[in-house]
Amino acid sequence: MADVTYLGADRSPVPGGGLGMGIDIGGSGIKGAIVDLRTGQFVGERHKLLTPQPATPEAVAHSVSHIVEHFGWTGPVGLTVPSVVRSGRVLSAANIDPSWIGVQAQTLFGRALGGRAVTVLNDADAAGLAEVRFGGDPRAADGLVILLTFGTGIGSAMLYNGVLIPNSELGHLEVDGKEAEHQASARVRTDKGWSYPKWSTKVSKVLAHYERIFSPDLFIVGGGVSRKADRWVPLLQVDTPVVPAQLRNTAGIVGAALAVDEGL
Ligand code: BGC
Repeated sequence: MADVTYLGADRSPVPGGGLGMGIDIGGSGIKGAIVDLRTGQFVGERHKLLTPQPATPEAVAHSVSHIVEHFGWTGPVGLTVPSVVRSGRVLSAANIDPSWIGVQAQTLFGRALGGRAVTVLNDADAAGLAEVRFGGDPRAADGLVILLTFGTGIGSAMLYNGVLIPNSELGHLEVDGKEAEHQASARVRTDKGWSYPKWSTKVSKVLAHYERIFSPDLFIVGGGVSRKADRWVPLLQVDTPVVPAQLRNTAGIVGAALAVDEGL
């Protein structure tokens, strides 16, 4: 196994040598960590700042620069946003400030971080990369894998033979005339006060729809609710195998670090 250099002479982390940095930008928090790219583990603690309100692109870029400074990190940075991102540009804003639409986020963050290399990608796409690489389920490496994150919305990542097909946005597919995320996100469950069994019928309906369209080999279900996976995953009624995500709340950060390392 190659050596990993964790700390430089001034005790700041040394980019390269198997390390990367990822930052996950969410509606309530912006979280970053140094990641060991060979194991998917954090090196040290993650650092979190509350998302500024309003969460305008400039305010968020400012918080991002604080996180990077906190670690004394000088290398490339991967960042996630809860949006469609094409060639570094944000193209949707379902659950974030509408002022993000059209912003060239790669240029914005690159400038805020002193001109270094940055990669910006969708939050669920990052989680999918991380789960397929480090989640530990051997079935995830081959065929069509759909990862879904259940939170305020429903995020999705599609990977075929380990290769990401970005911006799948399955949470916005209509199922029986209504967007999937408006009927089966974790937020809908809490807003309606549904039990896990009741909510699982809604999730099953959505998964069955995806199954009919895409015929995936495996579903991976994540987001905060995957902590309670035993209360709802076994109740899901679909033919495709469904497994809970393993990386939990580290997946976005790890996937962001992987994405920039792999030059996505
Ligand atoms: C957004 C996606 C995002 C998901 C999870 C959806 O509303 O459209 O881009 O991945 O929420 O944050």
